[in-house]
Amino acid sequence: MSKIHILSEDLRNKIAAGEVVERPASVVKELVENSLDATGTEITIVIEKGGHQLIQVSDNGSGISPDDMNVAAQRYTTSKIETVDDLFNINSLGFRGEALASIASVSDMEMASCANGDGGFAVSILDGEVGELKPAEPVQGTSINVRNLFYNTPARKKFLKSFRVEFRQIVSMVRRYGLAYPEVAFKLVHDDKEIINIQSESLKERIDNLLDPTYSAHLLEVNIVKGDFAISGYVGSLNLLRSRPGEQYIYLNRRFIKHRLLNNAVYGAYQSLLKRGEYPFYVLNLVQPADQVDVNVHPMKIEVRFKDEWRLYHVLKSSVADALGNILDTIPDFSKMASQFPEFGNGPQQGSLSMPAVETPIQQGLERAKTYMNTFSEKKESGEDVSAGNIWQIHDKYIVSQINSGLVIIDQHVAHERVLFEDALTAFEKAPLGAQTLLFPETLEFSADEFSVLLDILPNLNKLGFRMQEFGKNTVMVEAIPSEMVWGNEKTIIREIMDSFLENKKKYSSWQEGLAASYSCHAAVKAGDPLTIQEMQALVNRLFATNHPYYCPHGRPIIVQLSIEELDKRFERL
Ligand SMILES: Nc1ncnc2c1ncn2[C@@H]1O[C@H](COP(=O)(O)OP(=O)(O)OP(=O)(O)O)[C@@H](O)[C@H]1O
Ligand SMILES: [Mg+2]
Repeated sequence: MSKIHILSEDLRNKIAAGEVVERPASVVKELVENSLDATGTEITIVIEKGGHQLIQVSDNGSGISPDDMNVAAQRYTTSKIETVDDLFNINSLGFRGEALASIASVSDMEMASCANGDGGFAVSILDGEVGELKPAEPVQGTSINVRNLFYNTPARKKFLKSFRVEFRQIVSMVRRYGLAYPEVAFKLVHDDKEIINIQSESLKERIDNLLDPTYSAHLLEVNIVKGDFAISGYVGSLNLLRSRPGEQYIYLNRRFIKHRLLNNAVYGAYQSLLKRGEYPFYVLNLVQPADQVDVNVHPMKIEVRFKDEWRLYHVLKSSVADALGNILDTIPDFSKMASQFPEFGNGPQQGSLSMPAVETPIQQGLERAKTYMNTFSEKKESGEDVSAGNIWQIHDKYIVSQINSGLVIIDQHVAHERVLFEDALTAFEKAPLGAQTLLFPETLEFSADEFSVLLDILPNLNKLGFRMQEFGKNTVMVEAIPSEMVWGNEKTIIREIMDSFLENKKKYSSWQEGLAASYSCHAAVKAGDPLTIQEMQALVNRLFATNHPYYCPHGRPIIVQLSIEELDKRFERL
């Protein structure tokens, strides 16, 4: 006798329901997705007893025709795809044709719909059996009621949490869709109490209305288009850091997704500004051609696979890093400190900065820093200035400064490296950097190989301020060096720049970047170099004017934040 038999339709649906319908919030997810796919512009969600008793989702979308009403809640019925090719080019949230069937198999469902003035129709589905089609109010759109969830799967029902806990899950689900579709109006009612009622609005307004009305003041915009990718949205300044995850939203083609690598890309852009256990806020919309992504990975469709996830990782990381580039917006405390200690630039002491007789490289950069600061201040329009009012050097290695929320620690070498790196790149593109003529020109001899490389990069070395002439076989005469460099060891430095340039060429996206990185690494102040207050101020100010003040060209962190809470915790004050 054969032991193998085909499972009944009802049992198949219940098995499928196990994957899709985990709790009331998953019903909300499926129904809201259907409403959005039907291009509804107003979606109302009515919940009773945390969804244990009723989940109702109504929309003003395209509606379901009377013929389709009979089949919509059957398994594998969909209007969204037809062929295998469609499966790899999904442009809707749903496509599996199983959500309604799954929900109907574990609840009592009623559907009422009206499509294009066809007159309204309603149908009930009990124990998976579709009832008779009855007339209903001819209101454009669809309304689906789901009652008694899991009444026939007691094992599942047992796992449901309290009304309050389940309702909280529903609220976060609605937020998820509300943030992805700010142009759609959402209303959420729980036990006759209106919880959410938001109209069509901008994403920024939506963030304030759905999360917290103070958020918009701390948002930094992300907006880039790169080839066939586009990324837009907002990341939060450090004022929006939380100690638990939950306010990180990444959408791919308007679908909420969870993707560890992409989260890491965003965290990576914040670099050392985040401590372990701190989570930044973000709402980011990624747009990619649908055929570059596979969304058919899991029935819930929250996981996706990308054709080229590393490319996306880099684009995302650099666009978030760009958004965080303005340090005064990212670490708002800096600007508060700045207005209290206007010591540099526009402050009362302007023009009275006393310079020691012998100028060190960083002081030589002061003038340039002032120019930077002026543009910087104009950009801020507040006249605020980055000041290092409280600034110390420790172990001739780190610069420490107090800010309102605690303190920041800056690694002097990598900070200077970042400044020089960006200066060098600008010099290659635009005006060359200043040079200081050597009193006693020096000759430098290279191997034939090295010499030919040197000749290739000589025009760029000139732009950095190295002036060299060919001087016999494989030899150059160095007449001037960049004004930022300490002189005395130019021979070693030029050689080191050449060596590390040749060795690390492949690590950088262009050879100019490679050259700028080796120059900045060797010309920057070192750990162990004592700095004066003015030098530290100049360095910090110039660092803040760079595009990426948080990490050096090799990817090492530049700034570490230590909050007063962290200190209080360590001292067991909290
Ligand atoms: N609110 C709605 N407005 C208009 N049509 C709807 C609505 N809800 C469901 N439908 C129709 O019913 C069909 C079945 O819905 P169901 O959610 O079961 O499958 P799907 O959305 O196609 O795929 P998935 O299982 O991935 O969600 C849909 O393809 C759609 O045509
Ligand atoms: Mg669906």
